[in-house]
Amino acid sequence: MREMDRHFGGGRATLHLRVTPLTGMTSLESMESALKEMETSAKSQLDACKTPEALEAIRVDVLGRKGRLAQVSKSMGQLTHEQRGGMGKLLNQVKELLETAFDARHAAFTREAMAKRLAGEWVDLTLPAKGPLRGGLHPVTIIQSEIEDVFRSLGFTVLDGPEVETEYHNFDALNIPADHPARDMQDTFWMTGGNLLRTHTSPVQVRGMKKLGPPLRMIAPGRVFRNEEVDASHEHTFYQLEGMMIDRDVSVAHLIYFMKTLLSEVFRRDVTVRLRPGYFPFVEPGFELDIECLICGGKGCPVCKQSGWVELLPCGLVHPNVLRQGGIDPDEWNGFAFGLGLTRLAMMRYGIDDIRLLMSGDLRFLNQF
Ligand code: DAH
Repeated sequence: MREMDRHFGGGRATLHLRVTPLTGMTSLESMESALKEMETSAKSQLDACKTPEALEAIRVDVLGRKGRLAQVSKSMGQLTHEQRGGMGKLLNQVKELLETAFDARHAAFTREAMAKRLAGEWVDLTLPAKGPLRGGLHPVTIIQSEIEDVFRSLGFTVLDGPEVETEYHNFDALNIPADHPARDMQDTFWMTGGNLLRTHTSPVQVRGMKKLGPPLRMIAPGRVFRNEEVDASHEHTFYQLEGMMIDRDVSVAHLIYFMKTLLSEVFRRDVTVRLRPGYFPFVEPGFELDIECLICGGKGCPVCKQSGWVELLPCGLVHPNVLRQGGIDPDEWNGFAFGLGLTRLAMMRYGIDDIRLLMSGDLRFLNQF
């Protein structure tokens, strides 16, 4: 800009001149003055220009292919050969000056924009960083892995079974024939094709016996499904943990020992338990192991259905028919089995009084674990 001022004195009024030879002037004179006028005008336009878009419009108007400078250059045809040489030089000087001026203005706009952006993006690097958001384990998962640890330390293998089961594994192999009233104890979600959503983890007993062979100790935690009405203590989907030990001369004393070890580990304190006779087609004798309700301390609440006791551990000695289905000779081997309600256990442990919370996915609930 300064250089332009030096060249043409600067400060002249803005004029948009078309180059037409004026009367009384030579073509050269009129051309030179048109050039000067144009330079002055461009310069003051540049000064006044406020946005990069406006700058670009001026650049096109002055330096563009059909711009004002190009027009002056076009009209050089009117000049003599010698005049053309001098005029050409002048034209180039002006062009360079203007280009430099435009570039400087453009750079200034870019700097401004960058400064603005940086100001908006300013980050205080001295602030402490935000920690990562941590997920947590579901209460049932916590209980499940604890129990798995207890049983692993007692020599049990952890097995998995399919959630979509055959009718055979879920019922028949467990000594529950089609016409047996015990089938009605478990409302079943039937799939097309005769399969079903397993109603308990017990089908893994037969799969496990076939897989491991006697003697064996196995547990099988997993999700089970029942087609029943949902309320504070019933869900259509919940978790069980099946357990089985097959050996020679296994007795109810072994069963009680393992169950007591398990419960004292899980609750980390003495819990009051009671054993009642219970009927399950796959065990004989069968028992219901109840614990005193930890929510109400035995006084009665919705979880224990006001009884003060919670059915926690149905169990028994494995029925000979079931051993046979697992390919095991009942004259040589016997064992115990149990089906632990993992969901119910989690509710007891954490004082959760509504089973529906566990499946709710509600973060206000889940974040507490
Ligand atoms: N499968 C039974 C149920 O879901 C629970 C059960 C009872 C499992 C007795 C067992 C058992 O292994 O011995 O209701």
